[in-house]
Amino acid sequence: MQIFTTVKTLKLALKNVLPNQTVGFVPTMGALHKGHLSLVKNAKKTADRVVVSIFVNPTQFDRKEDLINYPSTFQTDIKHLQEVSCDFLFVPTIKEMYPNHTESQVFDFDGLDQVMEGAHRKGHFNGVGTIVKRLFEIVQPNFAFFGEKDFQQLQIIKKMVEKESLQVKIIAVPIFREPDGLAMSSRNSRLTDLYREEAPFIFQTLLKAKAMFDGKNAIKTTKWVEEAFKNHPLLVLEYFTIADESNLLPFRKNDKKEFEKGNKNQKYRAFIAVFAGDIRLIDTIALY
Ligand code: PAF
Repeated sequence: MQIFTTVKTLKLALKNVLPNQTVGFVPTMGALHKGHLSLVKNAKKTADRVVVSIFVNPTQFDRKEDLINYPSTFQTDIKHLQEVSCDFLFVPTIKEMYPNHTESQVFDFDGLDQVMEGAHRKGHFNGVGTIVKRLFEIVQPNFAFFGEKDFQQLQIIKKMVEKESLQVKIIAVPIFREPDGLAMSSRNSRLTDLYREEAPFIFQTLLKAKAMFDGKNAIKTTKWVEEAFKNHPLLVLEYFTIADESNLLPFRKNDKKEFEKGNKNQKYRAFIAVFAGDIRLIDTIALY
């Protein structure tokens, strides 16, 4: 695996990829876990050469403490990436990625950023869009891989690619879970033992919510989830939303009527954000 820290040297190396070969790209912020490695494995199966980037992007953090405390395990990350035969690793500095100002571009994501993560983390998706677009311009991948845990991010990246006519195919990779159901996340490593023990409650609740929803019972299910977290001694619910997975619009009363008439075309998904102490965890489940 070759490692690059500047845009210039990475671009030079990518010039040597043969014209008939494809490039797969996995952008990350490091502190790699099995979920990230599954993205790289998918990329290896799909493309001839694979680029991974590690860059903790300051403009997508709405809370300073979250940025400062973001875990970093660089030496282990390199070992893991070698094990899955990553070809190129790109680890740029802030100056490389933001040569002028460390500021986000403002995007129009057709409202996809106005709900859930976007509503609770001001400026987050403009930061994500800015850095992913810059990385795409540098790497020029044929395929880019994103985990479904950040489902809203995935839809927003697809929207950006469509609106900016970028020549890259976005590939979604299913959530990787711990044996007890907790969705893998770099932030899990910061959970205390007590919070780590309680955190699987999030996915257990999503599974019960899925059974209760049954294609139509959004209000009942939402109330039940909110109550379940009120009764939890440690975990604090930030939001639980049932939304159409294509446009992320919350389930409306009319949708229930449509469902009862037999129109079951819409695909719903539950989205959740929970505080485990200072650590904010998100998860999602398809409800179909
Ligand atoms: O999902 C992430 O890790 C980040 O949001 C990403 C896509 C690497 C952009 O910084």
